[in-house]
Amino acid sequence: MDRLRNPFTPGAGALPPELAGRSSIIEDGRILAGRALLGRYEKSQLLIGLRGVGKTVLLKYLAENARQAGVVPVVVEVRNSQSDFEELAIRVKDALCAIDFASKVKTSVNSAFATLGNFIKTFALNIGDFGIKVETSHGRASSGRMELDLSEVLLACARAAKDSNTAIGMYIDELQNLQIEAMRGIIVALHFAAQESLPLYLVGSGLPSIRALVGKSKTYAERMFNYAEIGALGKEDVDLAITVPLNNNGLDIEPDAITKVFESTKGYPYFLQEYGYQLWNVAEKSPISTDDVCRIAPDVQKRLDVNFFDVRFDRISSREKEFLRAMAEFQQNEAIAISDVADRMGRSLTTISPIRASLIKKGVVYSPVYGGIAYTVPMFADYLRRTMRCGCIHAV
Ligand SMILES: Nc1ncnc2c1ncn2[C@@H]1O[C@H](COP(=O)(O)OP(=O)(O)O)[C@@H](O)[C@H]1O
Ligand SMILES: [Mg+2]
Repeated sequence: MDRLRNPFTPGAGALPPELAGRSSIIEDGRILAGRALLGRYEKSQLLIGLRGVGKTVLLKYLAENARQAGVVPVVVEVRNSQSDFEELAIRVKDALCAIDFASKVKTSVNSAFATLGNFIKTFALNIGDFGIKVETSHGRASSGRMELDLSEVLLACARAAKDSNTAIGMYIDELQNLQIEAMRGIIVALHFAAQESLPLYLVGSGLPSIRALVGKSKTYAERMFNYAEIGALGKEDVDLAITVPLNNNGLDIEPDAITKVFESTKGYPYFLQEYGYQLWNVAEKSPISTDDVCRIAPDVQKRLDVNFFDVRFDRISSREKEFLRAMAEFQQNEAIAISDVADRMGRSLTTISPIRASLIKKGVVYSPVYGGIAYTVPMFADYLRRTMRCGCIHAV
């Protein structure tokens, strides 16, 4: 079919033509935003899942819905560097400008601008020209302690939002990369906002290690969130994700062909988009058949290896690769005992601990249970076994 009109979207953060299987989370997001606008408390929301399951897409979708409902969203992706705070400061400034534009009560908006100005100066953030003349705000958000100062900024924004009959929704992606001090700042702000009935909430998304970060940040933090596990799609949703875009563009697909796609992808959204994309490109007639799916499978595999799996090896040392390879020798994708990995590598637990810690920091593995380890990338073990078999460089 005409490649120009291909509706499928294999790519990080690319909104799919059919956002299948997420309706209950979207509804929860609608309620969270709507209640904030009414000044009612609701637990914040955390979207947790492996790579390529659709967290970013969902987060952006929820943020857009909230914006349309009247919330002022602050959308940020965390990369674990100083620029995170610069991006946050810029987005908060944009949010305040949006509130200022609509506001009749300027005092709390001005005070929030001033608090943000102090925060930017205190942490030497380079956000270019602040562009707004602000009064000083009696030293608020200038202690130099991220936890206190960030919470001060967020609460000042929430007060401005309340006075302007709106709400601030923070939509933070890759939350596992956030420094713990900043996480504490956000948690403290949410805590006080709940006590003062201020319209401030967080929708965070990222890898399963978010749970540990939240747990470590404050004793009460875990109870402040609703956790949504974002995972592979079931058969019916896979059907929708593939069939709806095809039908909308005048093509059909046989039920057996869908079953084949489901089996090959195990329902993982990124893999589905690659299948849909290739199927569209090679399809010569409708309906698309199982033969078509079999014909494109090797090509899809190659594209997945290059576009999805290989990139995980950026910045991975040879010892870390050895660790990942040892994990792949176990016939499973779920948690593996760290002691088994040590045995397989012929090393002690103490010597492999730093390797494990560094791989967790790089977001390649996580610890789903105490003493266990698993890949953050779906079907990564299959990929490693495949590349090990063919003697590719990744296998060390
Ligand atoms: N619910 C869904 N149905 C179909 N495709 C989806 C869905 N969610 C995401 N995708 C597709 O999956 C891929 C990965 O999405 P992304 O949001 O980047 O994942 P993550 O942030 O979890 O790594 C994209 O190509 C996107 O179009
Ligand atoms: Mg993402």
